[in-house]
Amino acid sequence: MNVLITGAAGFIGSNLTHYLCAERPQWKITALDALTYAGNLENISALVDSKKIRFVRSDIVDQVGVEALFASERFDLVLHLAAESHVDRSIHGADVFVRTNVLGTQNLLSAARGHGVKRFVHISTDEVYGSLGPTGRFVESTPLDPTSPYAASKAASDLMVLACAKTHKYEAIVTRCTNNYGPYQFPEKLIPLFITNALENKKLPLYGDGMNVRSWLYVTDHCDALLAVAERGRAGEVYNIGGAAEAEIPNRDVTFTILKLLGKNSDLIEKVADRPAHDRRYAIDYSKINKELGWKPRTPFPDGMQKTVDWYLANRGWWERVKSGDYATFYEKNYRNR
Ligand code: NAD
Ligand code: DAU
Repeated sequence: MNVLITGAAGFIGSNLTHYLCAERPQWKITALDALTYAGNLENISALVDSKKIRFVRSDIVDQVGVEALFASERFDLVLHLAAESHVDRSIHGADVFVRTNVLGTQNLLSAARGHGVKRFVHISTDEVYGSLGPTGRFVESTPLDPTSPYAASKAASDLMVLACAKTHKYEAIVTRCTNNYGPYQFPEKLIPLFITNALENKKLPLYGDGMNVRSWLYVTDHCDALLAVAERGRAGEVYNIGGAAEAEIPNRDVTFTILKLLGKNSDLIEKVADRPAHDRRYAIDYSKINKELGWKPRTPFPDGMQKTVDWYLANRGWWERVKSGDYATFYEKNYRNR
């Protein structure tokens, strides 16, 4: 199997690349990434250096570059993760989200279909469904109702992929996952930001009342689901992927878990102004992927959090490098005036 993984130097992409190298060592893997602020070649450098995978630096929006790649290599499968992925950044500026998530996905999809790539798995998000009230869970037929520019750009790309599957009878599949956490996550997202800020004795900026609920999934469980979908998922379908009921947790409680694991005091918490149009609650019904492909989340939240905290403790150099430079400017802009 000849596989292209886009966004392979990002958080989920790099975890997936490591996971597939271990689970499917016979696969030939090409890792593509533009190395934006969120991409870090360090995440997969051991695999590149040992020649287990090939790395290609390319922008998925670049038609000439993408076309040349598909002309030079006959892929069987594309696992498409490259994206702008941070909600707060999309509030500061939506253009790059439309460029990468909508135009980039369409460009990649056209090239894949044009060059006879058999399968295209588009990795999307539960945020396309918008927000839940106090009860209920998203199912695959829940109407799309995105509230942030990020979520809207992902919803648009989902629809292009599903339309392509219908129009051209192309083997494209969309997955929609809840919040991931684990190693290599860029420290602009809640869990790695709060772990690393706490380690630096900096404030933990909790938005609004801290009672927004997310459904947390350890990243390896997501990789497991993506492999099942890639190998056995039905073409043209959407599969919801997500955390178990016990992992549906308000941000305030996630914050207390982090502080407890690190032995830090709750006076590090700083309540700050809410995110505009902040989705109140996400929860997913994953019964379709469970029934069809036998997948379910396996890592209990306390175990996943212990592993994650241990990883950030053991990899201080990684996150100190990532947090310096351009990220510091974004952090300042995002949290000033809150
Ligand atoms: P990330 O921001 O950590 O990584 C994104 C990667 O895409 C980076 O390596 C970046 O360099 C690359 N990239 C960005 N623009 C590119 C371009 N134009 N061309 C090529 N590469 C480009 O994101 P992540 O959290 O790993 O998310 C990966 C995918 O999974 C995204 O599509 C996201 O929408 C989806 N997703 C994420 C989560 C989550 O909790 N993180 C949950 C559900 C779905
Ligand atoms: O649900 C899947 C989505 O999960 C993915 O599609 C996105 O790519 C990913 O970024 C994530 O989106 P969220 O907006 O839920 O994740 P984030 O880590 O930014 O925020 C999680 C919750 O924590 C959310 O309710 C906002 C809150 N938060 C976040 C940050 C960064 C804070 O209270 N303070 C913060 O500083």
